[in-house]
Amino acid sequence: MPETVKTKATLQNVIEVLRSNTSHDFTSYKPGTLQRRVERRMGMKGFPATDMDRYVALIEADSGERDDLAKDLLINVTSFFRDRAVFETLRNTVIPDLVNGHTSEKPIRVWIAGCSSGEEAYSIAILFHEVLDGSNSAIKLQIFASDVDEDAVATAREGLYPSTIASDIDPVRLARFFIKEEHGYRVAGDVRSMIVFTVQDVLADPPFSRIDLVSCRNLLIYLDANGQAKAISLFHFALREGGILLLGGSETAGKMEGHFAPISKSARIYRHVGRSRPGDMMFSLNASAAVHAPQKSNAKATAASLSLADTCKRKMLEIYAPAGALVNEKNECLYTMGRIGSYLEIAPGYPSADLFAMTPKALHTKLRSAIQRCAQQKIMIMARGGEIDNGQGIIRRVSIRVEPIEHEGQSL
Ligand SMILES: C[S@@+](CC[C@H](N)C(=O)[O-])C[C@H]1O[C@@H](n2cnc3c(N)ncnc32)[C@H](O)[C@@H]1O
Repeated sequence: MPETVKTKATLQNVIEVLRSNTSHDFTSYKPGTLQRRVERRMGMKGFPATDMDRYVALIEADSGERDDLAKDLLINVTSFFRDRAVFETLRNTVIPDLVNGHTSEKPIRVWIAGCSSGEEAYSIAILFHEVLDGSNSAIKLQIFASDVDEDAVATAREGLYPSTIASDIDPVRLARFFIKEEHGYRVAGDVRSMIVFTVQDVLADPPFSRIDLVSCRNLLIYLDANGQAKAISLFHFALREGGILLLGGSETAGKMEGHFAPISKSARIYRHVGRSRPGDMMFSLNASAAVHAPQKSNAKATAASLSLADTCKRKMLEIYAPAGALVNEKNECLYTMGRIGSYLEIAPGYPSADLFAMTPKALHTKLRSAIQRCAQQKIMIMARGGEIDNGQGIIRRVSIRVEPIEHEGQSL
């Protein structure tokens, strides 16, 4: 077998070992970057680059090395106000425009995807703090910051950084928004409390919704074309009409360019145009997605205990909870849990989040009427006596329960 074919095959083995033994799936990441990072890791362990077979055997046996490799592949390099000119554009035009165009009835919702150890999220929170302070506005702000790396999210929640950050931050901001401690600088409480940090995989977990600004910087560059398209269409879905997408310096909105109009090409800032139609979505909702409950900043909550709590909660829900789906006013599924596969099915063709496109026709009338009554009366509606055929002549009786839900101040 030629050497290049052999190397490619064993990189697939590395990806497979990580996929089946950790929560990380690198299938949609660029193989060239993965290959270089794996070889670097092999070098650190004393393996020549040609001996990937032996390294695969090592990660199969050694969970510590598996975790270290996965961390290495995630590449969480970041800094405060990374790309100064971009943050100036945010401070001087994008954020003031967002604030001025908003009423105080609804919060401004921001999602920083791939936030690493928090520097980008805190930089953006500081800018909003400055703009809102200057405008005397009563507008509320909700900032969600997520990353698939649990340790990075735990660091972000701590908000404690080494003294070297002083070279990235304007001295006036450093004095106003950070507290000097023995081992560095801690982000001040009023900025930390602005952000909810959470563990979330952009490619596998349900996205946030009705977002005004998505910032996803320096993550897409590590994804292959499919992964990038999936992430971009997901951000289009997450953003409200007219919302803003901010990408990293060497990233673009790619083929979704028609759905995003550039505000500043050099700063990679785009405006969401048009509506998300079901056929636009390059992603399907993952029924078995992990339940990553958003957590308020809390120094004591370690990533490890959160992960155990998530695993436990997920298992209990799988075993005991009825199948459920969270839908928005457009009847789009935002989240599903339990054994939902027995009731909902993704139709062939472009994936669609439309609840009715996924539900058996026999349930449509009952379901539609229950949802309408629930939305109008804001009470729980129970519709019994539904029946679905499993395709082999066996009829199952189904009850539908529809509940109004308030989430982050919005009705679902
Ligand atoms: C190079 S850092 C960028 C950090 C920050 N956005 C910035 O620009 O400074 C890339 C981050 O993306 C995260 N990441 C990679 N794949 C991800 C995924 N599928 N879902 C969420 N985060 C991911 C990594 O863990 C890492 O923290």
